[in-house]
Amino acid sequence: MASLPQAELNERLAAILAICRKMNSERDLPSLLDLLAREATSLLECDRASIFLFDPERNELWSKVALGSDEVLRFDARQGVAGSAVTTGQTVNVRDAYSDPRFYGAIDGQTGYRTRTILALPMRNQGGDIIGAFEVLNKRAGVFSLRDEQSLEALASHAAIAIETAQLVSELRRTQDELVRQNAHLWREVEGRFATHGIIGAGPGIQQVVRLIERIRDSLVSVLVTGESGTGKELVARAIHYTSSRARRPFVALNCAALPETLLESELFGIEKGVATGVQPRLGLFQKADGGTLFLDEVGDLSLIAQAKILRVLQERVVERVGGRTSLPVDVRLLAATNKDLEAEIAKGTFREDLYYRIKVLHINMPPLRDIREEIPLLANHFLKEYCRENTRQPLEFSPAVMRRLTTAPWPGNVRQLRNEVMRLAACARGQVIDEDDLWTGLPAPLPDQPAARPAKAQSLKAAIEDLEKRLIAEALKETRNNQLQAARRLGLSRQGLINKMKRYSIAE
Ligand SMILES: Nc1ncnc2c1ncn2[C@@H]1O[C@H](COP(=O)(O)OP(=O)(O)OP(=O)(O)O)[C@@H](O)[C@H]1O
Ligand SMILES: [Mg+2]
Repeated sequence: MASLPQAELNERLAAILAICRKMNSERDLPSLLDLLAREATSLLECDRASIFLFDPERNELWSKVALGSDEVLRFDARQGVAGSAVTTGQTVNVRDAYSDPRFYGAIDGQTGYRTRTILALPMRNQGGDIIGAFEVLNKRAGVFSLRDEQSLEALASHAAIAIETAQLVSELRRTQDELVRQNAHLWREVEGRFATHGIIGAGPGIQQVVRLIERIRDSLVSVLVTGESGTGKELVARAIHYTSSRARRPFVALNCAALPETLLESELFGIEKGVATGVQPRLGLFQKADGGTLFLDEVGDLSLIAQAKILRVLQERVVERVGGRTSLPVDVRLLAATNKDLEAEIAKGTFREDLYYRIKVLHINMPPLRDIREEIPLLANHFLKEYCRENTRQPLEFSPAVMRRLTTAPWPGNVRQLRNEVMRLAACARGQVIDEDDLWTGLPAPLPDQPAARPAKAQSLKAAIEDLEKRLIAEALKETRNNQLQAARRLGLSRQGLINKMKRYSIAE
């Protein structure tokens, strides 16, 4: 057989190489085994090929694929010709099966197949451990030659590595699936414990707010919620309403910053029928909220005239519609929110002190996100889950590197900005794990990595943060060509929130 012509030898080598290329791109174990069996059958011009994998725990050989049959075989690793190859570590070439004592005829008995010739050899991984046996049956013409042995040995040595890789990959996939499942389960647990009224947060900052909401559920005191833009003021106001005895009555929000002076009275108090031709009668917000809650959002932006009018309603508990002659009783619970420092406004004379004390019977201050960074993983995972649920997507998760970036970013737009960023990352994610490649270049860099943002020695943290905010706002405005709505979105602020900050920092429009 050593006299095989050179041309034929080259052909075989080329065939083996071609098989190697195919198997290297196959990571699914059953498909890989199927491919190997098929290719070996044609390479060695025989009837069948099987790969037996060694199960050291049970000291058994098992085979998922035998070309031409779907059966799974499992037998003692010392049995049969394949078993002999595994136990001795040698190639076994059987020229007449039924006269060879190593042949295990029971399988023929089960499958109704008649074995004549067998070539079996051990498969070793890179560490030299035997991971199974490669076996071919019934050479079409004659018996398996020495050249066949060499060919199968060459193939088996590559096959062993490919098989081990595929096994590792499937093991990894299994563990990953298991981790994702466990992770989802844990988040459900954690959230069940820490999400009240949709307010997420496990630390004292948020938990105190949640407990306060629970404590005042039976009273109708006015509450003023303060905090920077995007810290959850409206979320808290809604939670207060929906926890109270008024939950089934309306929650009406008025954005005081967007209330033009000319529409003030008709918006708030309504218009009587027949005031003038062409003017439709309408219900004022106080009446819409009757029996429920009126939420004065951005209350610090009310004009002094509006403040006086609202104060009167609160004191007298009646409203007079535009063009109306009678006073209508109203019963509203008042909640208010602002990101302004109302005491400073009082000092400046732009906010009425008497109104301030009316709306601030109770005061809740929402912390900026940079002060409660420990909540970021909980919040980020919550928003990610929300995204997947709403978009019916497979569960996604953050890579540790991305989570690090999220927990260290400055977040001038607070939770709203974090939520927007998570939604954007989830929408752009290519795999199940959101990794650094998916990060938006616009994600604010972590504070310590950005020299420009690093506070100078004498600079207070507050001043440094203000500096950074100014810079981020200026950048966002530049990038959006002064489109305030887009810039606000990018920063995770409401438009009004952005305008307020621009005013505070005297950034020109
Ligand atoms: N603790 C929290 N848990 C869950 N979601 C939160 C939390 N805080 C804020 N959010 C979410 O962040 C977004 C912004 O919150 P919200 O509108 O209540 O902020 P805001 O303080 O009223 O902002 P602005 O001053 O700009 O009006 C919302 O989508 C809200 O659900
Ligand atoms: Mg708000």
